[in-house]
Amino acid sequence: MQTVEQEQLAIEGGPRTVDYKFPTNSDISGRMFGDEEIAELTDVIRSGNLNVLGGPKVQQFEEEWKKTFGVKHAVTSTSGTSALHVGVLAVGPNPGDEIIVAPITDIGSIIAILYQLAVPIFADVDPISGIITAETIEPCITERTVAIMVVHLQGNAAVMDPIVELARKHNLLVIEDCSQAHMAAYNGRYAGTIGDIGCYSFQQSKHMTTGDGGMTVTNNDYLGERIMLAHNKGRGRSGRESQPPFLAPNYRMTELQGAVGLAQLRKLPTITGLRTKWGNLLSDLVDDVPGIIPPRAPTPESTHVFWNWCPLAKLEELSVGLDDLSQAFAHEGVGFGAGYTRTPIYEYDVLKNRRFFGESGYPLHDPANGRDVRYYTGMCPNAEGILKRMLVRHINEKCTEEMVHDMARAIRKVFTHYAK
Ligand SMILES: Cc1ncc(COP(=O)(O)O)c(C=O)c1O
Repeated sequence: MQTVEQEQLAIEGGPRTVDYKFPTNSDISGRMFGDEEIAELTDVIRSGNLNVLGGPKVQQFEEEWKKTFGVKHAVTSTSGTSALHVGVLAVGPNPGDEIIVAPITDIGSIIAILYQLAVPIFADVDPISGIITAETIEPCITERTVAIMVVHLQGNAAVMDPIVELARKHNLLVIEDCSQAHMAAYNGRYAGTIGDIGCYSFQQSKHMTTGDGGMTVTNNDYLGERIMLAHNKGRGRSGRESQPPFLAPNYRMTELQGAVGLAQLRKLPTITGLRTKWGNLLSDLVDDVPGIIPPRAPTPESTHVFWNWCPLAKLEELSVGLDDLSQAFAHEGVGFGAGYTRTPIYEYDVLKNRRFFGESGYPLHDPANGRDVRYYTGMCPNAEGILKRMLVRHINEKCTEEMVHDMARAIRKVFTHYAK
C-alpha cells in the first residue's frame, strides 16, 4: 500500500486528502451559540433597556470576567480597537510620547496609539514566534517611551517575564493585546493579567464573540479607575453631574452584547481547551515532517490557544514558495492562507505615508519639535521574513480528531513532496 508520502499531489492530478469542508473561524466563530445566549438576550429585551447604564448584563459580564481571569478591574467596550484605545487612554501619553509595539498585528493596535497622538515604535520579533521580546524591545526604548504594547499572536503567549522586568527597570507600563489569545497562559498566568493592562477583542472570528466588542482589564486601582472613565466620555458609570477629568470617547457596550458575552464567557474554557488540544495534537503529528516548524507555546507551563494554527515553512529546504504551498493545500482540500498580514503593519500605505490627521503627518512629522519618524521596508527584518514563511490554518473547537489527522496527512503529503 502507498504511504501518504508516496501519493501524488492533488494539484498534479492525484487524490485529494479530504473532500469535506473544514470549519473556518469566520463561518463558525462565536461558534457555540445556543439557548444560553437566547435566554440572556430574552432577559434584556423583556427588561426594555438596552443601555449599560440602566441594566445588569454588561456589569454581570464584567464581574464574571474578573472572577474567571482573577483580575481586579474589567471594563467592556465596543471592539478590540476601542479596548486598546481605552488602555492607551488609561496610560495617558503626552502627544509625541512613544509606545513600543509589535509589527505583526491588526491595525487596531496601531489606531489605539495614534488616536492619542502617541508614536508607535516597532520592535522586531522573535524569528519563530513572531512576537516581540525583551531583547528586541530594549533598543527601542528612548526618553519618550511610556509603554510597551505586546501582541500575543495567533493564540500564543509572549515571553512575558523578561518584558515586565525590562518595563519595570525603565518605568514603563505594559499593555497586552490579547485580541487573538483569550485564555492563553504564560507560565501558568493568563495573558492580559501579567503586564499592567490587558485588552481583548470579541469580534466575530475570535475565541468568543459579541459580534463586535472588547474588554480592558487591570489589577492596578489607579489604572482601573482611568479605564472606567475612558470607556465612557470621562464619566465612567457615574451620572451626568460628574465632570470628566479627561477627554474620552463613548465606547459603551450595549446590554445585548453584554448578554451574549456573558453566555459566551461561560463557554470560553471549553472552546480554548479544545483549541489547545487540537492545535497541540496537529503540531505533534507533523513534528517530524521535513521543511515545517509547527507552532508551540513558549514554555511547557504555557498554553497556546490557537486562534489560528500557523506553522513556518523552511523555504530553504523546499523547492517551492509559500504561494505554491498554499495552492497545493487548497487542492488537497485543506486550505492554508499564505502570510497572515503578508507585510508588517508599518508597510501599510496609511502608516508609510503617514495619513493620520489631514496632511500633517503628525505625530510622526513634528517639525516644531525636530521630529520626523518614517517607517521603511527593512526596519524589522525578522517580522518581514516570518510573514514570507507563515502559513495560516483555521483550527477550532468544531474540529474533530479525524479532521486533525486529515490535516496532518495533507501536511505530510505536501511538505514531503516539495522537500529538497
Ligand atoms: C491583535 C489584534 N489587535 C487588535 C484587533 C482589533 O480588534 P477589533 O477588530 O475587535 O477592533 C485585532 C482584531 O483582529 C487583533 O487581532
